[in-house]
Amino acid sequence: MTETRALRSVHTVAALRDQIRHWRAHGERIALVPTMGALHSGHVALMQAAREKADRVVVTIFVNPTQFAPTEDLSRYPRTLEADLDKADAAGVALAFVPDVAAMYPAGFCTTISLTGPALGLETDFRPTHFAGVATVVAKLLIQALPDVALFGEKDYQQLQVISRLARDLDLPVDIVGVPTLREPDGLALSSRNIYLSPADRAAAPALHQALSRAAQRISRETVIAPAIDEARAAVTTAGFALDYLEARHAETLAPIASTAEGPVRLLVAARIGTTRLIDNVAVPA
Ligand code: PAF
Repeated sequence: MTETRALRSVHTVAALRDQIRHWRAHGERIALVPTMGALHSGHVALMQAAREKADRVVVTIFVNPTQFAPTEDLSRYPRTLEADLDKADAAGVALAFVPDVAAMYPAGFCTTISLTGPALGLETDFRPTHFAGVATVVAKLLIQALPDVALFGEKDYQQLQVISRLARDLDLPVDIVGVPTLREPDGLALSSRNIYLSPADRAAAPALHQALSRAAQRISRETVIAPAIDEARAAVTTAGFALDYLEARHAETLAPIASTAEGPVRLLVAARIGTTRLIDNVAVPA
């Protein structure tokens, strides 16, 4: 398959920069889509959105060890490089940057981005070192590629807000764009983790999105938040999930929020069913 791909793969920062410099010399706009591989239709949607925003799309494929806790099994993370390259190629991506760990974290590497703001609470309560790893690798990728625009899925909504804030705070000259979550017909958000759901858990899983959507409609009508959140938590638990969190937050700062008078609201959930942990989020209509 490799020889028929129009997509080019590079493995070093120098080769990435050479190619991008060449395109820039011809006045072309560059979009970056950072991924950890195991590409699915949600990633393809990111690449398609990227194509509409730039002349050249660069995808990065790097399973970033620093965003995994020692308790999370980095070695079990799916690695499907050849299939990923085929998907990126079919989606019109021009370049894949596929560094190894030594290229991203050479011997002596000792710099980590420290975060507060949107990184506080939610995922951080359960994965305390996760966003420092994400922010550090994304900052590196943005500085290495210096794209005009970088696209991230709204599915990982807290990650999107952390990265948006990071780009502003560090004056990175890039537009961070969120792409809406792709869903199965029954509402379940597309995720590489869905394949781990047993048939019974898969049947129960849409309850997560249903509970969030119902709560969002109720908050929109009533403006106060607590009753709708309580109802949604109960619905998710009744459906068989063990809840990590289900909260209403300010849609940009992710500060805790008690009523719609405090600004745009996003509802975010993480819950476990069987052996699988799912996350999802929805906007509360204004
Ligand atoms: O969302 C992901 O796949 C990863 O967290 C990212 C942004 C590629 C950083 O490793």
